[in-house]
Amino acid sequence: MPGVEDIKRIAVVGAGTMGHGIAEVAAIAGFEVYLADISEEILRNALEKIRWSLSKLSEKGQLRESVDAIMARIKPVVNLRDGEYTEEFRRALSESDFMIEAIPERLDLKQKLFAFADEAMPEHAILATNTSSLPITEIAAATKRPEKVVGMHFFNPPPLMPLVEIIRGAKTSDETVRVTFELAKRFGKQPVVVKKDVPGFIVNRILARFLNEACWTVARGQASIVEVDSAVRYKLGFPMGAFELADYSGIDVFYYVFTAMLERGFKITPCPLFKEKFERKELGMKTGKGFYQYPAPGKYVRPSIPKEAGEKVDHVRLIAPAVNEAAWLLRNEVATLEDIDKAVMLGLGWPKGVSDFADEIGVDVIVETLRKLKEETGFEEYEPDPLLVKMVEEGRLGRKAGKGFKEYRPVEEIKKETILIRLEKPIAWIVLNRPNKLNALSPKLLRELGEALDELEERDDVRVVIITGSGRAFSAGADVTAFAGITPIQAAVFSRRFQELTLKIEYYTKPVIMALNGYTLGGGLELAMSGDIRIASETAMLGQPEINLGFIPGAGGTQRLPRIVGRSKAKELIFTGDMIPASEALKLGLVDKVVPPERLEQEARALALKLAEKPPLALMAAKYAVNYGMETNIWAGLALEAFEFGILFSTEDVAEGVTAFLTKRKPKFKGR
Ligand code: COA
Repeated sequence: MPGVEDIKRIAVVGAGTMGHGIAEVAAIAGFEVYLADISEEILRNALEKIRWSLSKLSEKGQLRESVDAIMARIKPVVNLRDGEYTEEFRRALSESDFMIEAIPERLDLKQKLFAFADEAMPEHAILATNTSSLPITEIAAATKRPEKVVGMHFFNPPPLMPLVEIIRGAKTSDETVRVTFELAKRFGKQPVVVKKDVPGFIVNRILARFLNEACWTVARGQASIVEVDSAVRYKLGFPMGAFELADYSGIDVFYYVFTAMLERGFKITPCPLFKEKFERKELGMKTGKGFYQYPAPGKYVRPSIPKEAGEKVDHVRLIAPAVNEAAWLLRNEVATLEDIDKAVMLGLGWPKGVSDFADEIGVDVIVETLRKLKEETGFEEYEPDPLLVKMVEEGRLGRKAGKGFKEYRPVEEIKKETILIRLEKPIAWIVLNRPNKLNALSPKLLRELGEALDELEERDDVRVVIITGSGRAFSAGADVTAFAGITPIQAAVFSRRFQELTLKIEYYTKPVIMALNGYTLGGGLELAMSGDIRIASETAMLGQPEINLGFIPGAGGTQRLPRIVGRSKAKELIFTGDMIPASEALKLGLVDKVVPPERLEQEARALALKLAEKPPLALMAAKYAVNYGMETNIWAGLALEAFEFGILFSTEDVAEGVTAFLTKRKPKFKGR
């Protein structure tokens, strides 16, 4: 079978919400695309929407080509006339190496299409379906090449959502999974593999458990809609409340998906409120009313959900059924732990993986909560999964036990208002922790960050500091709301204070690693540039967008960026305000390493642990020689190097290093 490099032309069938978005993604990635649907009007509409979306991406600086150049790669094709597939559709398929189907969710329609495509397409072609609720295996059964049929489930809207679930049908070959996985990567997406064709795959199964629990909490009269949503947003840190999300996406959308899952044997007791809303046609934002009220149909105003409202809601109950589902997926070998966590973070915007929630809350607490839920309701689905029960028996209770779904080094966590300090000796993590605001750098956050750095600098048991962000951003920059109505002099003082923080990091006596987990923009990038080493997740986007707000970078961006990427590239980035993906930042030397999102934490930790074994004073001397030396002439720099070199010979660590070398053992450096 040919590899992904042999795929030149892709046929996207169905130009609705998902189809047109998928066509857009494929065209951006450089593929020739046939976009097929049943009428010229639908296709015209779809092309208009694609053009609109591309121009938005272009405005945000996220495209490398012109909108016209990308549009020119998409060719519309009418695929049905009088109930028959057209000749031009047959020709388009015969010229395509890959098909992605996104037509309505009806098995008969899909089977008919797949049978036709099987006959029309070249032998090497892979046939993928974007279904969210139908079995891949049954769709594949309509073809003579079930080994080349696969699920490729995108999330809405495809150009913005990074996740793609790749689903293996009963007969799908390893090759097909591999090529589809590679294709998703070429699309700039983050694929996860669903190894068994289970209803709802990963994301919808976990989402169903979570939404159903939120809904039952209200239906049982234990809390109000606003109270539950407040707990979801502020205690769990999700980007939207459960009901808010249902309204936003459309209650009907969830109703259909969950009903289809139920019909395929997914065991759940559906909460009646969804059905009621569905039957009353109160579908959310699009009808002007759902769980919340909107000013007019289709007009979105974010519901007001106060933070205090959720204080008495038990967030453990809200998430325990989702953890139970994750355990089921894991035990049944449907997906790996890494992929499950990645799926909820990238598909649902959760600030961390399901397993991270479980390990933090405690697996025993989750099991206890599920048992109580079962006792209260009698619902079978609350029976704790055997995997969870086994974990409790084996003492794998989570962070507090040092092991749960994951293994932990002993940690001590200090929670401030805007940051989290995690002491994992000899490493300290500082987590920028305003995920709902993309970790925008408020004056308070800058202050807390500065104080945390000072405190950690004093500690001998901390050798390396890692700074990272929670949720989908490292930091989206200075908190723009803090700029409202400030005077020029106040702005200058803000800039200078922020600069002082970046200097603190450059002068810092210990290495500072920046782990860029997502958006790293404006002040976020300036903060990152002051660190010693930057590791980025593949999903990170970097840029200095200040120009779009009428000002310029004010925390060293105009100085450090040119020193790292060169003058003209720095000017290009600052003048255009464009965002670049981590892969491009790597080419520019703006980041030092790029890793998949689920590996960022462990890669940063591995590097930090490696540095923690080195002699601390020599690390400091090396950092200073490089940082100061770069800003002076070479003679002063060399002199500094020579004297630092000399001074190190007064340390115990040099004696230790040399003795250990001569006696062939591993040195133990103490920083003395
Ligand atoms: N300051 C204050 N709040 C910010 C922020 C910033 N720099 N960046 C993001 N936020 C807030 C948003 O206002 C929003 O808050 P809300 O939910 O209360 O409305 C929340 O973070 C989520 O951001 P949102 O814009 O809804 O997410 P998105 O995925 O649509 O877009 C970005 C992501 C990064 C493209 C977009 O947030 C952005 O352009 N941010 C500003 C970047 C910038 O200009 N930084 C330089 C500042 S000097």
